[in-house]
Amino acid sequence: MKAMLHPKIENALNAQLARESAASSNYLAMAVWCDQQSLDGCARFFYRQADEERMHMMKILHYLIECNAAAEVPGLPKPAAAFQSVQQVFHSALEQEQAVTRSINELVELAQECSDHSTQHFLQWYVAEQIEEEAQAKNILDKINLIGDDKGGLYLFDRDIQQITVTSSIGTIK
Ligand code: FEO
Repeated sequence: MKAMLHPKIENALNAQLARESAASSNYLAMAVWCDQQSLDGCARFFYRQADEERMHMMKILHYLIECNAAAEVPGLPKPAAAFQSVQQVFHSALEQEQAVTRSINELVELAQECSDHSTQHFLQWYVAEQIEEEAQAKNILDKINLIGDDKGGLYLFDRDIQQITVTSSIGTIK
């Protein structure tokens, strides 16, 4: 069992847990939209992203329990379900990752202020993960923007995105 968490850290970790859960729901909504447009590769990509975000949530949940801290299972906010285009879907994905990175950085700063070395160490995994996730989202959005309205390009992109392996330092989701 780790040392007790500062109440500010406990609250901030619970808020992050809720953000990861919301990110999972949002990715699921993106997957469903893509599935309905017969963009099977994109749908598969977002289903895996939704699983990955749930895993991010579970890591925080287990850390809070290990620290004997309060851990609240968040309610599910209703995600956006109506997208206008595949560009908008991937743009939302990038914005979501950027927002998560900001909140992780704020959490790291809070842990530093509170001299909570254990939580700082725990958060390093998320810092590294966000670098990967943001780079991946940006890279995909750049490709989507290059394709523009080219239907043939979108068909090939949808096929190729299935080759992207979602990696993380605690496992690989294929
Ligand atoms: Fe867990 Fe992609 O943020």
